[in-house]
Amino acid sequence: MIRIRRKYEKKHIAWKVSDTPLEKYAEPFPQEFSGYLNDRLADSRKSMIRHRLLDVGVGTGNQWINFLNKNPDMEFNGTALAKTMLHPEIKQKIKITTAANLHNHFEPNTFDTIVSHYGTHGQELEALEDIIYLLKPGGEAVVTGISHNLFEKKLLLNAKKANQNIFDIIHHKNIIDRIKGESKWCYHIRKAS
Ligand SMILES: C[S@@+](CC[C@H](N)C(=O)[O-])C[C@H]1O[C@@H](n2cnc3c(N)ncnc32)[C@H](O)[C@@H]1O
Repeated sequence: MIRIRRKYEKKHIAWKVSDTPLEKYAEPFPQEFSGYLNDRLADSRKSMIRHRLLDVGVGTGNQWINFLNKNPDMEFNGTALAKTMLHPEIKQKIKITTAANLHNHFEPNTFDTIVSHYGTHGQELEALEDIIYLLKPGGEAVVTGISHNLFEKKLLLNAKKANQNIFDIIHHKNIIDRIKGESKWCYHIRKAS
């Protein structure tokens, strides 16, 4: 794992960040991200529901600490590949799993919101499938990633075509850096009610 990380981290942003501030979590998301989360929480409070959120690939989790302290009524869950670098305050809330294996760790139709910022690397399609499986009907996910080929967009849009009535893409943006040969993408999706 460390060798793979060393190999990629010089050129690949997906290995460089581990506690991105929440404000920047979903760029190129069209809205300020923590504002979006606050709106989601406010909606749950109106319906007297305890908001359940999952972050796939938390990194250290440091980025969540202030937000969780301000919103103690939210249920936070996360995933990581190892417990070693996790912030002690969230360690107990983290399941060790790959992004393609979420369905073996969480019940279907569980989460109001699922987010992932560079946390589905190499498993984007499987992760998207699992994320939809785990969302409550009407739940939303914001998934951001980066790829060295430009096929991600087509693959994810094809997934949408194959699952027409299961989820809607509320917003999708793909920023292509042709010089680096990278594309940074963000999907905002909603599971059908
Ligand atoms: C680049 S870090 C990003 C951490 C944090 N989300 C952030 O934006 O700062 C990616 C994290 O997701 C995990 N990750 C990346 N791809 C993954 C995958 N396919 N399955 C499980 N975890 C993955 C890595 O182990 C790491 O903790």
